[in-house]
Amino acid sequence: MMSVVRHTSDVRCLVSDWKAARRKVGFVPTMGALHAGHARLITESLAECDRTVVSIFVNPLQFDRKDDLESYPRSDEADLALLEELGVHLVYQPREKDMYPEGFVTRVVQEGLTETLCGAARPGHFDGVLTVVLKLFNVVQPDLAWFGQKDYQQVQVIRRMVKDLNCPVEVRMSPIVREADGLALSSRNRLLTPEQRAAAPRIFKALQKCDVAFRSGQRNVDALRVQVARELEGLPEARIDYVEITDPRSLLPRRSDAAEGDLLAVAVYLGAVRLIDNLLLGRS
Ligand code: PAF
Repeated sequence: MMSVVRHTSDVRCLVSDWKAARRKVGFVPTMGALHAGHARLITESLAECDRTVVSIFVNPLQFDRKDDLESYPRSDEADLALLEELGVHLVYQPREKDMYPEGFVTRVVQEGLTETLCGAARPGHFDGVLTVVLKLFNVVQPDLAWFGQKDYQQVQVIRRMVKDLNCPVEVRMSPIVREADGLALSSRNRLLTPEQRAAAPRIFKALQKCDVAFRSGQRNVDALRVQVARELEGLPEARIDYVEITDPRSLLPRRSDAAEGDLLAVAVYLGAVRLIDNLLLGRS
């Protein structure tokens, strides 16, 4: 039987009973509008842990644009039905006023890893992500937590916070789940017009072509990035946010040569919808 709760005290009560019975607790934080990518994270948690908690909270702190927050897809009823079907034990669905009550002024700020890619493109985004994730970790107190590789930088940033702030949780990263045509699953995909949706798989195709060039011996970062950018520019209503090749750990852009295992990451707007995707060169 799945419990759906809104209050911190209810989560703490259930989780402390599980911990007292030495149950391993897995956690998948989400912003709802669930899809098969989330289902994969949840399935992995269910397989490895005795109890799985999923949170649904569209976190206003991590949105740098009001219109983006307002248009973020929401599908509470379908989400709860999916979570029940998957066999999740507890859904934590806090209200904004409880998460950020009046007078809330504390933020988690991280340097270094947040200064490139999405961190550079969306000022304050990772302060918002880290603040909410730390709060959620403190409430749920999971043994393990799952995040998707599509948000590669997010996973690295969270891992660093966990290390730096001694959070007693192990962070797992699961591979990107894709549609049959290659489009990385994202809650934002449902905002695409039919024309944008038809073109969107070309984002992953551009990454794959770059990977083929890399495997064939092209190492020059500029040549590889230009190749991807050219492909993306051909998409309808496209505006490139970034095309980067970085060290997979420091996330610092490579300046001359790319190496095997480097992160190739892109963010591109199709109309008003911002999509991201990535792969590790020579490894995918
Ligand atoms: O990846 C997401 O959906 C969000 O950034 C997260 C981790 C749930 C924090 O709001």
